[in-house]
Amino acid sequence: MAVHSLPTPVRLAQESLAPLFDFFLNSPFRKGREDPDACDFAFGNPHEMPLAGFTNALLAWTPPQSKDWFAYKDNEPVGQAAVAADLQQKLGIAFAPEDIALTNGAFAGLLVTCKAITEPGDEIIFNMPGWFFYEATIRQAGGEPICIRTRADNFDLDLDAIEAAITARTRAVIVNSPNNPSGRIYPAQTLKRLGEILTAASARHGRIIYLISDEAYRAIVHPGAQFTSPAAYYDNSFMVYTFGKVLLTPGQRIGYIALPPTMPDRESMRLALFTTQTTMGWAFPNAILQYALPELLNLSIDLNALWARIDRMGAALADMGYEVMMPEGTFYMNFVSPLEDDVAFSRLLMEEKVYCLSGNIMQMPGYLRLSLTANDGMVDRSLPRFARALAVTRQ
Ligand SMILES: Cc1ncc(COP(=O)(O)O)c(C=O)c1O
Repeated sequence: MAVHSLPTPVRLAQESLAPLFDFFLNSPFRKGREDPDACDFAFGNPHEMPLAGFTNALLAWTPPQSKDWFAYKDNEPVGQAAVAADLQQKLGIAFAPEDIALTNGAFAGLLVTCKAITEPGDEIIFNMPGWFFYEATIRQAGGEPICIRTRADNFDLDLDAIEAAITARTRAVIVNSPNNPSGRIYPAQTLKRLGEILTAASARHGRIIYLISDEAYRAIVHPGAQFTSPAAYYDNSFMVYTFGKVLLTPGQRIGYIALPPTMPDRESMRLALFTTQTTMGWAFPNAILQYALPELLNLSIDLNALWARIDRMGAALADMGYEVMMPEGTFYMNFVSPLEDDVAFSRLLMEEKVYCLSGNIMQMPGYLRLSLTANDGMVDRSLPRFARALAVTRQ
């Protein structure tokens, strides 16, 4: 009898994505999040009305101004130029407008980048704990994912482990700072050393190892912390960004991949990205979002309110006896599970209609992650419930 192997997406759903999909599709969260009494800390979703500036920009650019308003759109030059100017102002790097590839957020930016540079058998290194889709993204791009754990003491990059994992088949290393879920921003010193490691390894193996810098949370940095782009220390970098975090509009998909002006092979990389985007389902943002982009660049959720909420939540949980890990960036906060089994503790919280991610989903065992995109009312309602759940573990 012929043995049929399962399609790759099914295997991904059953393997690396299994804990996430189990929570998302099968747990009480699926229905429970709609209960008005729920406290939803699970994902980076909005729990307040969208920014008026965002809605106004979409409305302003919706009525057609020409016959080709809704023609095929790839990279609209006005959006590319605005992003390049924004990066110059915010990071001090002079990106060329034509080196900005507009994408459907960072999800697409990461997949398109991986696909553009990966040949069968190529390995791509990623760090865990980390965003739950890296392994699946690398596999979908046809690469071999190589998982490295961050340092156990502080969740920083383990540079020795990354260096040791590089082989003649390594094509890229993905780094995410500010990091989801740990909230860490990697220090400039670490990133400089990473650049040196990649330069030396590329020379040793006679082929370029790329750095894919996932900067989804670049704009969400604690007032006391400072962000440095990993791409600033390595010429062969792809900088991947999304507007879905800073605007809290992940359902309106827009972001970009930027190639630094110092990347040696920029022209072929530009073409590699363009070909990948056109042949992977015309993976460009919709026309209206592209027209509106210049007006989105200076919009942001209320970061003061966000950090005040994070600080308040952290202090309240610490007062109760939770061990809290405060973030330097992102809108996530982690705490140590009072039960050894973080999944069991997340179930206890679910009974209280409090939804957060257990560490098994992000390969961060023993922790739980809260997204403080929850609104202040949810924070207020959740505090006595966190106290009750903790009390249950001490009975
Ligand atoms: C680290 C990281 N990268 C990429 C993404 C994808 O972002 P978007 O949905 O805006 O494309 C996310 C979203 O959660 C993320 O946390």
